[in-house]
Amino acid sequence: MRKPLIAGNWKMNGLRASLLELSGMARAFTPALRAKADMLICPPATLLFPAAASALGSGLAIGAQDCHVKDAGAHTGDLSAAMLFDAGASAVIVGHSERRTDHGETDAEVKAKAESVIGQGMVAIICVGETKAQREAGKALVVVGKQVRGSMPANASAAQVVIAYEPVWAIGTGLTPTIHDIAEVHADIRKTLARLLGKEAAGKIRILYGGSVKPSNAKEILALTDVDGALVGGASLKAADFMAIVEAA
Ligand code: PGA
Repeated sequence: MRKPLIAGNWKMNGLRASLLELSGMARAFTPALRAKADMLICPPATLLFPAAASALGSGLAIGAQDCHVKDAGAHTGDLSAAMLFDAGASAVIVGHSERRTDHGETDAEVKAKAESVIGQGMVAIICVGETKAQREAGKALVVVGKQVRGSMPANASAAQVVIAYEPVWAIGTGLTPTIHDIAEVHADIRKTLARLLGKEAAGKIRILYGGSVKPSNAKEILALTDVDGALVGGASLKAADFMAIVEAA
């Protein structure tokens, strides 16, 4: 039984005033909802510490959006997994398509980052997903399979990693793949994980869908067999929208 995870990625959004939304989410995360789903918000790193303080005791987990591969050193402007853990993070998103595109991150680098996150006892949320051109060329499964194989740390367990399938063309666009296409990619990711880790371990790993998830489409997407939650961008900035998605899980 995989407990769904509804994760919010605030990206480069959020000032201290936004912590009001976060505390609203923490308050709305009732014991009944907690029994059904796990909930995580990844604010910008500037808000990690106060966000973790504000969510304390609520069951709402706090995560980060990226990390450096090393624990410490001469890397101006970067943040290590150790620092993020120290600030209150229990998970870190790695390999988001915006990082892969804006910062040229490769699968090997994403894998090293995931290893660093796991090394701190946190959960690595590893993002994969095809571009519009790759989907139109019929290459979505091949591209995603290669990203999963290249980005997964060896012998990772369900307590250490979560995969997020986020088609690049669906992020922030309001577009989503068909239900059939989401189901197909998630089932294929599960098969890739089974080849890497064995069927039993693969069956426990959560695979989230991300890309224009909102209250109106969450229920249908989250009902799919191999969809174990969502990674939500825009709709995670407001407590009302985000909680509606958590309730759909
Ligand atoms: P979106 O972003 O929900 O705004 O499409 C999803 C993501 O990038 O994680």
